[in-house]
This record gives sequence, C-alpha cells and structure tokens, in this order.
Amino acid sequence: MNLSQASQQRLDLLAQDSGKRVLLPCPLNQRAFDFSSNDYLCLAQRADIVEAGHECAKKYGAGATGSRLLSGNLDCFEQLESQVAQFKNAEAALVFSSGYQANASGLAALLDKSLWGGVVGGTEPLVFTDRLNHASLHHACQLAGVKQIRFRHNDMAHLTELLDKHTESRQPKIIVSETVFGMEGDLLPVEQLAEIALQHNAVVYLDEAHATGIWGPEGRGLGAMQHPAIDALKTLGHWVIMGTFSKAVGVSGAYIACSEIFKQYLVNRCTGFVYSTAPSPFVIGAVGKALEIIPGLNKERGMLHTAADTLRNQVHKLGFDTGLSNTHIVPLVVGSNNACLELKTHLQQAGIRTSAVRPPTVPPNAARVRLALNTGHTLTVYEQLLHALASWKVGT
Ligand SMILES: Cc1ncc(COP(=O)(O)O)c(C=O)c1O
Repeated sequence: MNLSQASQQRLDLLAQDSGKRVLLPCPLNQRAFDFSSNDYLCLAQRADIVEAGHECAKKYGAGATGSRLLSGNLDCFEQLESQVAQFKNAEAALVFSSGYQANASGLAALLDKSLWGGVVGGTEPLVFTDRLNHASLHHACQLAGVKQIRFRHNDMAHLTELLDKHTESRQPKIIVSETVFGMEGDLLPVEQLAEIALQHNAVVYLDEAHATGIWGPEGRGLGAMQHPAIDALKTLGHWVIMGTFSKAVGVSGAYIACSEIFKQYLVNRCTGFVYSTAPSPFVIGAVGKALEIIPGLNKERGMLHTAADTLRNQVHKLGFDTGLSNTHIVPLVVGSNNACLELKTHLQQAGIRTSAVRPPTVPPNAARVRLALNTGHTLTVYEQLLHALASWKVGT
C-alpha cells in the first residue's frame, strides 16, 4: 500500500461515521453571522490593532529571522513579555508562535523528569489532568512520557481524592487544567483548585486560551485573580499560566506567564522555544496594542455575558441541551455525528456559520454544534439564530 492509498483508506474510515473534516472558505463579508470564530471581542479587524502590527513590522521586518536564541531576539519581544507579565500579574512571561506550541513544548518541559531529579537520574512527576483538557495538553504529556492521572471534568473532590492517594509519594505533583473549557464552555473553580494545590504542595499549570480577554479582572484571565492561595502559589513559583493571543486578543501566538527563574529554564529547555523561529514582529505589535485595549472593555465583556445567559435560556426553551456551559461558549449538544452535521448544515442554510465538534475533540456520543458568542453579534443576528434553531427542532 502506498501513502495515497493509506491516506484514502483512513479518510474513508473517518467518513463512515461523519467524522471526516474538510476545509471550507470563510468569507470576510459573512463575519456578522459567524458563531464559529474565537474572535470574541472582535479585535481581529480593529484598525488600531492592525495599524500597530504594521508599525512594528515596518520597524523590525516581516520576520524575526531566527530563534530568539540566535538572530531573533528583537527588543520588541522583551517589551511584549514585560507587558504580558504585567497584564497577568506575574513575575515574567515568555512568548510563543502558537498556543499549541506553548502547551506541547512548554508543559512538556515542566513535566520533564530531568527538571525534577537534580543532576542524577530524574524523577517522573505525578501529573493530574482534567479529562476534558485540550489536545495540546495531552500531547505535552505524551511528549514528556508521563502517565496522566485523570480527574473527572472540573470535579475538585475527585482531584483531591486522587492527590490524597499519593500523599506519601515524594514525586513532584503537577495539576493541569483549562480555566474556560473551549468545547464545554464552563469555568474551572480556580480559587478552589489553588487551595487544593497549596494543601498538596502541587504545581499548577493552567491554560487560559478561552479566558484571556474575557474572564478575570479586566479580562486578564482567571489566573490573574487575587486570592491568598494563588498568591502563596505564586510566591512558591508554583503558578504557571499559559494563554493565547489567537482568540479574544484577535491575533495569533501565545504566552506562558510564570516566575522569572522558570522562564529562564524554558529559554534553555523548552524545545518549541529553542528550536523555532520567533513570531513575526507584526504579531508582536498587534498583540501589544490589543493588550492595551482589553482592560478597558468591561462594558463589552458584560454585554457578552448577558447575551450568553439570554441565549442559553432561549435555547433551553426550544429543548436544546447546552451541557455545562456558563460562559460565552454555548454548545448545543446533540449526541451523534450525523445529527451534529445536520444541525450545522441547517444553520448554514439560514446564513449562520457554526462549528460541528465531534469525537475525538469531545467524548463519544457528545457531538455538538459550538456557538462562540462575540461582541459583534446584534439582536437581529440572535433572532435569526433562534428562528433557525426553532425550525430545526420542530422538524426533528
Ligand atoms: C484550550 C486551548 N489551548 C490551546 C489551544 C491552541 O491555541 P492556538 O490556536 O493558538 O494554537 C487551543 C485552540 O484551539 C485551545 O482551545
């Protein structure tokens, strides 16, 4: 069998269960009715952010020309990292080209047993992970060769029970979770998790991809909250927060906010940082501007949260199941892949773009149409969405 035949066979298998993915065009003029975009604050098209990107590119060039450890360490990166650290209320920050890269390589570096065992040998950490963590977090665990100890989604009692089982262990303990779950649209009880981590002397690694810009004080993420347990973990250097610039920030790339010493460790040992060209200066300029703007958008964030509450109430009345959602991400959980594709197509025909999210991105039989709300959605758009949803439910 050659590669083309093997690929075709694999694609046919995926298609059998309506699980095959295809790339579709995303015309700019249909953004108003788009519930598939993660541009929650509609910053991607904002003129002053695009302009700031241009200005930075004009000054520093279109590309960084190399890894930060070689030719790429332009001063705009260090400026942005100071800005991110301040934004996140952290000691230091390190910037990456994508969120996937930051997680896959940054978390893998944190889990690397050579970090924990001193000069001889090494000690494999005990890694406690939420069952519904993003693929990039799983990838990091695989890359580091650690076995995940999975706790039930957002179940802090289960996490505590699992940690308690290892009280006697001298292995380091690391807890990994998202703060806003991208496919469920629910919130991690961050303060409770911080208290549990402190009691068990565990390091916390949080992914704020969907929280950055929308949740926490002035949209700085839930990891930026002030709380005695969080402050104590920060003092220990046990509070490591990753987030992306690709969603509410409206650009691309990611950060890890952490202690200065852990940043220096990542600069040396994080493969996605060491062996990858630094992000484009355009990205750096645009992100810097977006981070200046975001704290001032409390009114927009408030409106987004109200719109999400209203939408959930209305779709519940139509008989839809929104799962655990209590954020600006509202999944319509329909179960089978077929039903999910049918609903997505139905909405598409009504001019509304959504994402069909199917296993393995979500658990088996939990396929869903994901509605990502943004500040550009008007009342007319919501009315059109509800009208289309009502007619689908009636027809099934
Ligand atoms: C929770 C989470 N983490 C990380 C990522 C990856 O971020 P990026 O798209 O910037 O690579 C995503 C993107 O879907 C995500 O949802």
